[in-house]
Amino acid sequence: MTDSSTPMSTGTTDRKIDKLIHLLVKNATVVVPGPKIASEIGVTRSTVWVYIEKLRALGVEIKGHPSSGYELQKLPDILAPSLIRPELGDIQIGHRIVHYFRTDSTNNAALALAAKGAPHGTVVLAEEQTAGRGRFGRNWFSEKSSGIYASIVLRPALTPAAAPMITLMAAVASHQAVSTTTGLPADIRWPNDLLVNGKKVCGILTEMNAEVDRLHAVVVGIGINVNHHEMPEELREIATSLRIEGRKTYSRSHLLVVLLKELERKYHLLLDEGGAAIARRWTAASTYAEGKQVRVRSNSGEFLATTAGLEPSGALRVRREDGREEVMVSGEIVEVK
Ligand code: BTN
Repeated sequence: MTDSSTPMSTGTTDRKIDKLIHLLVKNATVVVPGPKIASEIGVTRSTVWVYIEKLRALGVEIKGHPSSGYELQKLPDILAPSLIRPELGDIQIGHRIVHYFRTDSTNNAALALAAKGAPHGTVVLAEEQTAGRGRFGRNWFSEKSSGIYASIVLRPALTPAAAPMITLMAAVASHQAVSTTTGLPADIRWPNDLLVNGKKVCGILTEMNAEVDRLHAVVVGIGINVNHHEMPEELREIATSLRIEGRKTYSRSHLLVVLLKELERKYHLLLDEGGAAIARRWTAASTYAEGKQVRVRSNSGEFLATTAGLEPSGALRVRREDGREEVMVSGEIVEVK
């Protein structure tokens, strides 16, 4: 973990690795002597070597010059706080970033930090998740250094009833970030899946720590399939990555920066103008808002319906085949072609 000395599964002191990345990036294409690195980040020369190997394992190209030091050959696409934070300016979301090379789930880490009082805007990032979680108890495939696995702690002065709107707000922000960064035709499937060419590229899992009438903290977990070369066999029909659809590699760090800035904007839009403003943006971004033939899976069972508009609360209105209308507050839908 980069932010404190709490031990974690990799057993590394990642804060120092973060310093190493920063040092190498600052001196890119220059050979930085081993002893200089060791003294600047506060470790021994042999530990520097261990850290360099760890970065190489993550795909960072570092040339070792036997007698003079190390040279960064290619800027790494690592979501290290020292590379992300300076790009964010003074926005609240991301002013504190906690980075893991590997953790079970960034939502677990963010919920634990939130319970200990982590401030609004704390962002937890991981290069890899070993137990990434999705909605309905599903797993989230979290291949190393291919995706964005981010969880954001929000502390809005809202009631738990606003939680669905926070999720839709995150979907609108993710849609905007993916569309502007890649130019790909992204769609939002209710409530919060991002699709490209009909397949899922991004999912959002919102969890909270609340009392009946007060939200203490909301953790918005966002997973984006960015540079996966291929999806696992069992997901190929329904999920894809930006790389597969765009036929190019995207900078995860750039996409993350755009995403966090967009979340900050949409979060303030929600607080300032209310859920209706988010619902309008969501409706404009989604082909699922109205007139889509879908199969509904909800508490009232499974049935075919046509979507009939998003309520200002974030609930989805659907019309059954017999004409009866229903307002969905939870559940999921899939397009029927
Ligand atoms: C879904 O569509 O089912 C939601 C997927 C959410 C995945 C993200 S990845 C970052 C964060 N950590 C998790 O364990 N889950 C969320």
